Amino acid sequence: MKSPSTTGNPPKASQGLATKPVEERLQKLVDSALYCGGSATAQKIRNFLNGTWLGEPLHVVLTDVPVGAWTVAMVFDGLDFIRSRREFELAADTSIAIGLAGAIGAAATGVTDWSDVDPPARRIGLIHGLLNIGATALFTTSLLLRAKKSRTAGRISAALGYAVMSYAAHLGGTMVYEHRVGVDQTDGELFPEEFAAVLPESELLEGKPTRATHNGVPFLIVRRGNRLFAMAGTCSHFSGPLSEGKLVGDSIVCPYHSSRFALEDGHVLDGPAVHPQPCMEVRARNGQIEIREPRTGKTPASSNSTVS
Ligand code: FES
Repeated sequence: MKSPSTTGNPPKASQGLATKPVEERLQKLVDSALYCGGSATAQKIRNFLNGTWLGEPLHVVLTDVPVGAWTVAMVFDGLDFIRSRREFELAADTSIAIGLAGAIGAAATGVTDWSDVDPPARRIGLIHGLLNIGATALFTTSLLLRAKKSRTAGRISAALGYAVMSYAAHLGGTMVYEHRVGVDQTDGELFPEEFAAVLPESELLEGKPTRATHNGVPFLIVRRGNRLFAMAGTCSHFSGPLSEGKLVGDSIVCPYHSSRFALEDGHVLDGPAVHPQPCMEVRARNGQIEIREPRTGKTPASSNSTVS
């Protein structure tokens, strides 16, 4: 998978793998393992883990399980410390076990998402993941100590795990809110409300993904036979230029991480993208390709037009 920097500085081809940062080398290993040589089954599994079917990153949903369960464990450990009761012990132990089960799902989805994260969030993501492994190990140790009746040591191990998990969660928030990982990159782009000319019709060749702009916002325009398609040109995943992508039937493959979007309505056919690509109404008038934002919403069921 091509993995360019989001800073706009693509990696130099001359750089050998050995000279690259450890997180990049690790990411390449993870990425090739998850793609399994491009097998269709591996892609389906990735789509599931990314959350392509959900329209949101599945990872952010699953992380609520360990965070929530281990918070409950902390509360019951506190209550048990103040007023020792068997019910509090049982509630704390069960919550830790539930959190550990949730951590497996969160780890699987997190690693899948991370395999397509570009710098600078890539390094933060690696630290975030390693800290969460540490937190999971501490909660596992806590459960084992509790099973051996070493409840005080178990409580201390859980408290340490919770502190590590909290910092890891902070880094996860940094990735989302500062580096916009998992956020729809087209959000905030302004599309023309009325039909506006964006490209001379003569420059739109059959089956060639073509870039057009309106007020600085890029669009992908495609002509297939007598049909026209237009969608936001910035990939919703990590801003890949879709006009440089590859046309596969009635879909476009992003040149950065190979997300595939249906030209018809922008829905995600293959991840890692999870957010649909906004489509435009498009028509050919007076030798110009004109587009506008659909009246019925950002991603209509059908937004393309036949060439008149
Ligand atoms: S930028 Fe990642 S798939 Fe398009």
